[in-house]
Amino acid sequence: MKKGFMVFVLFVFVLAMTACSSKTDSDKKDKNAKLDIFSWWTGAGEEDGLKALLELFEEKYPDVPIENAAVAGGAGTNAKAVLASRMNGGDPPATFQVHGGAELNEGWVAAGKMEPINDLYEDEGWGDKFPQDLIDMVSKDGKIYSVPVNIHRGNVLWYNKHVFEENGLEAPTTFDEFFEVADALKAKGITPLALGDKEPWTATQLYETVLLGVLGTDDYLKLWTGDLSFDDPKVVEAAEIFTKMLDYINEDHASRNWQDASQLVADGEAAMNVMGDWAKGYFVNDLKKVVNEDFGYITTPGTDGKFMVITDTFGLPKGVSNADDVKKFLSVLGSVEGQDAFNVLKGSIPARVDADVSKYDQYGKDTIEDFKVSELSPSLAHGSAAAEGFLTKVNQAINIFVTQKDVKQFTDSMTSAAAELK
Ligand code: GAL
Repeated sequence: MKKGFMVFVLFVFVLAMTACSSKTDSDKKDKNAKLDIFSWWTGAGEEDGLKALLELFEEKYPDVPIENAAVAGGAGTNAKAVLASRMNGGDPPATFQVHGGAELNEGWVAAGKMEPINDLYEDEGWGDKFPQDLIDMVSKDGKIYSVPVNIHRGNVLWYNKHVFEENGLEAPTTFDEFFEVADALKAKGITPLALGDKEPWTATQLYETVLLGVLGTDDYLKLWTGDLSFDDPKVVEAAEIFTKMLDYINEDHASRNWQDASQLVADGEAAMNVMGDWAKGYFVNDLKKVVNEDFGYITTPGTDGKFMVITDTFGLPKGVSNADDVKKFLSVLGSVEGQDAFNVLKGSIPARVDADVSKYDQYGKDTIEDFKVSELSPSLAHGSAAAEGFLTKVNQAINIFVTQKDVKQFTDSMTSAAAELK
């Protein structure tokens, strides 16, 4: 009797375990079957382009379930940490947002975490559909690892047109003009420059535009190969100009993010801000402002003819169970239709050379033309110029610099961080 009872208990236990493990397997299967698309495009000014792209994919492939796995936080402030734990924990997303350049090549490709996708480029005939400079940014040792969905420009100065007109001011093109305009605005009680460095990358982005404006493209590029030192007099001059600009920012900069800072300009509480052209998506889609009526745009001081490139790209991580479906998604993202669905809303320009220019507003049209004729330089703040480890140190140094304004201390921190670039 007792033995019979034990056998019965054992039987029930085995049955329960089997049910339990088959449930886990099917859950896993469901999870793996879904294409989870990982990015940091959530909320105001960020997600409209992605949503349009996902809708287009669902129209084309209704049988492939997708999941928008975005993690909030500008420039990937939080997403990059979540991504790292997923990638290193053997749970890669089906595909994820990654900047072309160092972030992709020295990061995930060097770590052996990405599959080359040259075959996809061949199948889709993409060899001459993306500018060679962009293909180079997503390639390592002849292998291509991702597909650029866009090109954002980092060196844009946005300004409130009404404030400028009412005060008889012209958008500044040089640092001298910037300070003249800033003084005039300050005298009228208007905050000249909006900054929202609650997430420090925004200050890093402002700083890198000053570097480009002071040094020019060639010397700017030398910084990231270790061929120009951060204690070079010209680089120190850039740090001095950057601190001087900080004399003109809103007092509450440390409690605002990039959207909150852009909002100050849209509302006319501040006159200018320096931000990538995702700000245009925010001005137009979220704040309902009109390009060239409510707000204007110009390259940041000293950077006429120069283009700070930020490219968001998506690739194929190693170890995903649905590689064919991922490639379907990448093929839509890399198509003319996909690029035009995404970029018209995002504020960026299409990465493809044959997109439909007529779909873009005046800002987009101007930027498409500028890209063709400008000197290109990669953004540090957005991961293309140097590896993530260095960028983390720069963001920390900048964060201290913004409050302490100690050029010598900042120069020392940057010089020692840059030792790893050689
Ligand atoms: C950049 C990204 C842009 C935009 C921006 C603000 O790193 O390339 O697409 O999302 O961050 O979050």
